[in-house]
Amino acid sequence: MICPKCHQKLLAMDHCFVCKNHHSYDIARQGYVNLNLDHSKMSGDSKEMVLARHLFLNKGYYEPLQRVLEEIVIKYQLHTLADLGCGEGYYTKKMSLHTEKCYGFDLSKDALKIAAREDKNCQYVVASIFHLPLEDESVEAISNVFAPSPLDECVRVLKRKGLYIRVTPHSRHLFGLKEKLYDKPYENEIELLFDERFELIERILVQDMIEIKDQKDIEALFMMTPYYWKSSREASKKVKQMEKLTTEIAFDVQIYEKKD
Ligand SMILES: C[S@@+](CC[C@H](N)C(=O)[O-])C[C@H]1O[C@@H](n2cnc3c(N)ncnc32)[C@H](O)[C@@H]1O
Ligand SMILES: [Zn+2]
Repeated sequence: MICPKCHQKLLAMDHCFVCKNHHSYDIARQGYVNLNLDHSKMSGDSKEMVLARHLFLNKGYYEPLQRVLEEIVIKYQLHTLADLGCGEGYYTKKMSLHTEKCYGFDLSKDALKIAAREDKNCQYVVASIFHLPLEDESVEAISNVFAPSPLDECVRVLKRKGLYIRVTPHSRHLFGLKEKLYDKPYENEIELLFDERFELIERILVQDMIEIKDQKDIEALFMMTPYYWKSSREASKKVKQMEKLTTEIAFDVQIYEKKD
């Protein structure tokens, strides 16, 4: 990693990271380090959203995706990996088991407190994924699950022929939930990267049906989605009254290779 102030290499000490210009960054009790210098503007997901996602994901509803991401790391023998917008590390912690060096970047301190507590194989770092504290051409792979896509940074930090593993919602993801909320539910648009610096080399559709029988889990799922912010009060009320939900889940896993 590099120092966000002077861009010199950071050395890991017992309780902090330091650069040769004596800029020092404490490692928090839970194990994450804060390298975000821009404290003013962005803070990532709120504690409320983080806790909802943590509760929902740990019930295993999205385990098929977790398994596929772990298999990709094994299949491509990835030694160094950076997970961008890693949240509380639900996918990161499985991928990091098979790497020599793994980083998880997120702006949400609340998310990284959980991630770092639960996974000691990965270094979790508070930083914007649009300004990664990583050296040029230093990682073999980047993963990004449902987070913004900082393509220029991906090109900069990926090694030659490095992989960009990107996960977005497929068209029918959570359609069962939308049907309950809206009169005219719509399918998600498929988002492929059209960037001349990357070539799509593999694409996996991860699909399943899930049945949620606990109202708290349904509410947590709702809070994880953009519908939580966009929906009317009436929709939120409907969610509170749902005792059971059956819905498709569908993830579009795209693996791109950085071109020469
Ligand atoms: C939808 S969540 C996905 C979290 C995790 N990948 C998962 O699927 O469980 C998006 C995450 O991206 C983070 N995020 C958003 N913008 C960011 C930025 N500019 N830099 C770092 N993290 C960011 C949020 O804090 C949040 O944890
Ligand atoms: Zn420095």
